This record gives sequence, structure tokens and C-alpha cells, in this order.
Amino acid sequence: MHHLNSVAELRSLREAWRANGQTIAFVPTMGNLHAGHLSLVEHAKQLADRVIVSIFVNPMQFGANEDLDNYPRTLAADQAALISAGADALFTPTVSDVYPRGLDAQTVVEVPGISDILCGASRPGHFQGVATVVCKLFNMVQPEHAVFGQKDYQQLMVIRLMANDLSMPISIHGVPTAREASGLALSSRNGYLSEAQRAAATAIYASLQSIAEGLRNGMPQDALIASALAGWQDVGLTPDYLSIRRQADLGIPSEQDTHLVILAAAFAGTTRLIDNLEVNFTEVD
Ligand code: PAJ
Repeated sequence: MHHLNSVAELRSLREAWRANGQTIAFVPTMGNLHAGHLSLVEHAKQLADRVIVSIFVNPMQFGANEDLDNYPRTLAADQAALISAGADALFTPTVSDVYPRGLDAQTVVEVPGISDILCGASRPGHFQGVATVVCKLFNMVQPEHAVFGQKDYQQLMVIRLMANDLSMPISIHGVPTAREASGLALSSRNGYLSEAQRAAATAIYASLQSIAEGLRNGMPQDALIASALAGWQDVGLTPDYLSIRRQADLGIPSEQDTHLVILAAAFAGTTRLIDNLEVNFTEVD
């Protein structure tokens, strides 16, 4: 596996591959790789001749009181995992490679509307930071394909809208969420959890499943949400949001909507965890 530390090295490898007619699938990450990230690499390998993975803990997407400084950095283990997964290149730019004029001077990408709701309401500026860094990484790597996890449902939507609105010649792919046997979605932030918090956190996916079941049985949405939140309280989870939305635009669904997604964000102690579950009703005619 090639390890590229600079944009110049990345560009020359990219050019050599392009000259050979090889296509690229790109997997952007912030590192501390787990089986969820590696499933994206696995998917990427099916899409193109070469897979490039980036590891960059992007300061622009962290709020002032968030975990930027403590975010787990495990480069040696990540490199080994990527070699086993069969990635062709790892790109690890520095903050000054990505933001040479500093964060405050940086030109930004804002995807309006969607960036301000749900996670965007709780984390102002977060999706602007995500869209900006992903746009920059796309321009550095110039992939034909890019692969993201459905675990970050709203992020995937922000990136699809950005790529479409800015006419980027890149296909965006979403990969299902990898979970522990308990149902807990794999996340780099799970490492912050105590054993008790980890057990409590399994209530997040369990409640998504019971809300989905309730929706399929025609139960009222408000009652389903209230009972799930009561369950969270019992195990000591603090809700950020728990909401049933339309898949198409994450708006509030009407009675006629058949493609829904339940989105959850909760704190276990100070650790913020997110998850989601789609619910599709097939129309009967
Ligand atoms: P990070 O949290 O490292 O996630 C990198 C990619 O892995 C994202 O597309 C995310 O959705 C996916 N992922 C995380 N957990 C997953 C799981 N359990 N199953 C499947 N996929 C999973 O998301 C980011 O980094 C950053 O915001 C980034 C897009 C790199 C921009 O900085």
C-alpha cells in the first residue's frame, strides 16, 4: 500500500494510474478504523481499479466544545487494517496541507437547509466543515467513485446534494451500517464508553427497531417516540433528538409518505452517539 503524506505525492500517483486507464474509488475517514470503515473499503474495491483511503481528523467539522483534541488517532493500527483490507493507497494530509491559509480564511461549501436540522441544529457549522473538507478531498483525489456509510445518514445526504449541486463528476455510494452483535452501531466514539454506558447505548438501536415495528403496526408516531424516550431515560441516555422523517429530504413526513427514516442522537455520559433505521411501506393497490 502506498502511503502519501502530501497532495503532490497523491497527484503524481493519481496521474500515473490515470495514464494506465485505472479508475479510483475513494473512502474518506477520520481514522481509528473499525469494521464499518473496512466495509466501505470492501465496497470500494468492487467499484474501481484502485482504492484510496484518506485519514484526516478535520478540525473544521468539530465545535469549540467537542472532542477534536481527544479524537482517537491510531495510525499504525489503521495502516495495518488497510493493508489487510486491500486498500491501494492511504492519504494522510496535515492540517496545513488542507487549510494552508488557516480555517478562518478558508473558502467554504454550504449545503443550505439540510445542514441546519437534526445533527446540524445540535452542531452548528458541522456540516459546512464536512462539505468543505469532502469537496477539497474530492478535488485532491479526483475519484470516479466515493463511498460513505449510511450510519451518518444526514452526512451522506449533505454529500450527495453537494456533489449534485456543484456538478461533481463523482458517483456517491452509501453502505449499510456495521453493528456489534448487540446492535450498537460501530463508531470510533464507542471507545469513549464505559462498560455500563456501552450496555446503555444498545438501547438506541433497540428503540429504532421498536419504533419501526410500531410504525408497521400503524401505531401513532408521538406515542412511539415518547415510549422510546422513556426507555432511554431508564438506562441513563440523554436524548439529543429522536425523530421520524421522510427519507427524501429529512422533512417531517405526511400521512402519505411511504419511505421514512428514524434518526436518533443520544448522549451516553458526554459521548454523543447517532444511529438511524429506514422504514419502507409498500403501497397496496
Ligand atoms: P468517520 O467518522 O471516520 O467515518 C468515515 C466513514 O465511515 C463515513 O462515511 C461513515 O459514515 C462511515 N462509517 C462510520 N461508522 C460506520 C459503521 N458503523 N458502518 C458503516 N460505515 C460507517 O464521517 C467522517 O469520518 C467524516 O465526517 C468525513 C466524511 C471523513 C469528513 O471528515
